[in-house]
Amino acid sequence: MTLESQNPNNPIAQAKGADAYRDPSWWYDIRGFFILMGTYQVMIWTHLAFFAKNLGNKHLEAAIGSGTFLALTLLTKKILGGKLPEEIIGIDYAERMLQGAQILFKSNKSVKLVQADLGNINYPNAYFDSVNIAHSFHAFPDPGKVLKELNRVMKPKAHLYVDVLLAPRGGCLRRAIATRVNRFCFKKGILARTCDPVTTKAQFESNHFNVINSYIKGNTYHIIAEKD
Ligand SMILES: C[S@@+](CC[C@H](N)C(=O)[O-])C[C@H]1O[C@@H](n2cnc3c(N)ncnc32)[C@H](O)[C@@H]1O
Repeated sequence: MTLESQNPNNPIAQAKGADAYRDPSWWYDIRGFFILMGTYQVMIWTHLAFFAKNLGNKHLEAAIGSGTFLALTLLTKKILGGKLPEEIIGIDYAERMLQGAQILFKSNKSVKLVQADLGNINYPNAYFDSVNIAHSFHAFPDPGKVLKELNRVMKPKAHLYVDVLLAPRGGCLRRAIATRVNRFCFKKGILARTCDPVTTKAQFESNHFNVINSYIKGNTYHIIAEKD
């Protein structure tokens, strides 16, 4: 595992968004589990099975965070059978989160961690076979810029898997729990917006992705998109 900062002279953590992730990564993991149950309302293994399907040979984990979810995704893929990527690049702009990922992947030579904004990725055009964005799309300050940049670094026909947090749905109790958890996340600055499926799908399409499958589970919109 190696760690690099894309631009050491211009600390990425200055971005307001990265500043919201100052908590230690172990605390983020515990809190994240409850957020997942309370607001996404999807079981963690459903998410793991979803993202484990999209691990190409050169894989980009966009907004890798503490790395725990990627580690579990790789484990899921191993259990289900199938080849693991030869090269995994994990990008995130929050230093505290990457510190957790550094510990987790310190003996894994196929993983490289990069501290950078996903709106400006220092990789050539058409480099990656697959990209996953787990639990992060709705936290991006500028999702359009990120989609444009991801499209640039993806190979033609490469797949992008994303889970997008929707505005609370379902029965009274479910909506009340999700609304409360979301309020906490907005206050902490780790949630920029909740989304609606129609606008989100159109946003992917206007950034040159074909949405080849999409479905809703709980409060989560799952998108499988292919680069045009
Ligand atoms: C909710 S966490 C999810 C982390 C991880 N994917 C997971 O599932 O545990 C969101 C992450 O997105 C990162 N992030 C948000 N916007 C970003 C951007 N524009 N560039 C890089 N990282 C970003 C944050 O720093 C944070 O680590």
